[in-house]
Amino acid sequence: MINVAILGYGTVGSGVFKIINDNNSHISRRAGDEVKVKYVLDLRDFPGDPVEDVLVHDVDIIMNDDDVDVVVEVMGGVEPAYTFVKRALESGKSACTSNKELVAKHGAELLTIAQEKNVNFFFEASVGGGIPIIRPLIECLTVDHIEEIQGIMNGTTNYILTKMEDEGADFDTVLKDAQDKGYAERNPEADIEGYDACRKIAILASLAYEKQVDFEDIYTEGITKITTADFDYMKKIGASIKLLGIAKKVDGKTYSMVAPFVVYQENPLYNVKDVFNAILVKGDMLGDVMFYGKGAGSLPTASAVVSDVVDAVKRQGYTAKIYWSDTKRELGGVDAFTTPYFVRVSVGDSSDEASVKALKSKVEEVFGQVDFIDGEKSGEIAFITKELSGSEFDKAAENFDIISRIRVS
Ligand code: HSE
Repeated sequence: MINVAILGYGTVGSGVFKIINDNNSHISRRAGDEVKVKYVLDLRDFPGDPVEDVLVHDVDIIMNDDDVDVVVEVMGGVEPAYTFVKRALESGKSACTSNKELVAKHGAELLTIAQEKNVNFFFEASVGGGIPIIRPLIECLTVDHIEEIQGIMNGTTNYILTKMEDEGADFDTVLKDAQDKGYAERNPEADIEGYDACRKIAILASLAYEKQVDFEDIYTEGITKITTADFDYMKKIGASIKLLGIAKKVDGKTYSMVAPFVVYQENPLYNVKDVFNAILVKGDMLGDVMFYGKGAGSLPTASAVVSDVVDAVKRQGYTAKIYWSDTKRELGGVDAFTTPYFVRVSVGDSSDEASVKALKSKVEEVFGQVDFIDGEKSGEIAFITKELSGSEFDKAAENFDIISRIRVS
């Protein structure tokens, strides 16, 4: 018998409880032992809910019970999750979590403790919710050097951008609609400012490049400045705008960024719409491989958590080797991050044909060769630059009244 304790009976915790109970014989057969939820920890009471039979309010009951084999942490936030997971591992219990804040900040340390205690620390659900991405990255793509990861890793922002694109609605209207439907939090900052995606790409970059990538070092830009006018241009060039988390290696240097990017139809991420997530991995031998599915929600996320529980049971007695050292990996700066740019420049007061022509000449003089986008909106011109580093772009941009600029993937 394998006894599981779930810390937190919220959206994901209730999903984990339901999956372990509803699919019990299937899960137990796959794990090779009967899996049972012995405790659920939550401060709240849930009168009438089947969880009542196993609900506890005191974490010590779980930590002091030697019969608990696996602790599932689905509370979110760094504390007290960190203290509880550390304590679980130190008392010889495996731990599985969906908590990206915890993993991004303390993943390397918790993996080391798991190794010392001969147990496992798994976190499949911390990136991409129900999408298998962590295990494929560390167990399947072991041959390849990972050249680049590009991911749509936040469902809320992908929903907002999709609605802006498809319905021509502005950001504030769509955000309110997303909040009314429960897709966006009442305080949406972590999603719309890119902080959530930042933790997720920090985890993937740490795993792909085997050293600690601190999320604080990742340049992060949200989607609040994207307008419907930007999307009008995208329709003209057969592209979309997606909030991407990117990690890549160029000439031995690691770069990472979260920002809105222009994504052309040829990129498989172009078709990832609504609340879906997808992660595109480029291996030096394999080429491109994409992982697609539901990046949030109770059952999809819980499905990934329970798959970790099954894995932890199968590996009882030894620790899976996960290469993520706590040595810090220095990142290349945003100034050196090189991409083409989509740019809209104001023509200013004199928008007659001659002034527009003169402005276009100046653009080519300053930015080098660009592709102008036909059918500009009144009072502006729009174009795509060649590849420029962040500092080259900023220097060139000083010469113009820039309405908007979005990097091109
Ligand atoms: N707020 C996140 C999202 C939930 O919208 O994708 C999953 O981490």
